[in-house]
Amino acid sequence: MRRGSIVRITIYGVLAGIFASLVAVLVPWLPTSASEQMDRIEFTFWFTTVICIAVFAVVAAVIVYSILNFRVQLDDSRTGRPSTGTPGSRSSTAIPAILVTAISIVSAVVLAKNDDAGPNPVRIAVTAQQFAWRFEYPGKTKFTSGQLVLPVNETVKLTLRSLDVIHSFWVPEFGQKSDAVPGIETTLVITPNRTGEFPIICTELCGIGHATMRSGVRVVDRRDYESFLAGPANGGQETSGEAVFTSAGCGGCHEFEPAGTDAQVGPNLNTIDPGGQPLEDFVRESIVDPNAKIASGYQPSVMPETFESTLSDKQLDALVQYLVEGQQ
Ligand code: CUA
Repeated sequence: MRRGSIVRITIYGVLAGIFASLVAVLVPWLPTSASEQMDRIEFTFWFTTVICIAVFAVVAAVIVYSILNFRVQLDDSRTGRPSTGTPGSRSSTAIPAILVTAISIVSAVVLAKNDDAGPNPVRIAVTAQQFAWRFEYPGKTKFTSGQLVLPVNETVKLTLRSLDVIHSFWVPEFGQKSDAVPGIETTLVITPNRTGEFPIICTELCGIGHATMRSGVRVVDRRDYESFLAGPANGGQETSGEAVFTSAGCGGCHEFEPAGTDAQVGPNLNTIDPGGQPLEDFVRESIVDPNAKIASGYQPSVMPETFESTLSDKQLDALVQYLVEGQQ
């Protein structure tokens, strides 16, 4: 090949490489990492991207050069010589094979490391239910909360369960994602390395309130984590009506002004119509036996029937009071 051709192909390749690099760097493809697992995922992402940009630059350069230099005449119907067995055809098979193998090795190492919780992780049980997340913390008293609080720089192993249908637990900044499947227990390993608040999103279409099945995770230092665990009095359970409303996930489906929620899956709780029954009795019945009476315009069996078993008597009383007092 003439020297001039090599220079031109190189220039095309560099231009294509710069263009692809700008697209890769200037577009925020991934959220800012907040966990060791996400850091490894980002490494894999960039490792793959760099290889892709290099391959793209070479291919684009050859294509542009060929288009400009080897134009076919309209009446030229000859076929070219076959190119099997040439150095070009051999390297165009061998080099991609090596690169793809390198990507699979890096991915396999990252997957194995990201699933490794180490010898002594913080264990938190996650329960998914249409349409809320509940978190059960370790310790002498079983403490459950609707809020996920994690200590920074410690490996956490979440065990995921579902009480009804398949949900999927995802914090974009943590990178990893795992389904919560009824009947089995799945796990997810997270080592948060940045303090702050991040969203928890359900990423499996799980019913009419799927879009509202969101919560939040707060990553704090060890001392704040301890005081969060020690905080709730009375046997470690949140017993204010507002806390129960949040932890039971009522706001995922109902509008209720005192709690600042505006979901429209179930009836509006600002103006409950007890239909002749005493208000308090009606509210209690509607929580423990949701299908006893269905508000007009709503379907039966949308609200889970599990609250009778998941709420303590104290929590149920507090929730009923909270709803009754919040009537407009
Ligand atoms: Cu739970 Cu979507």
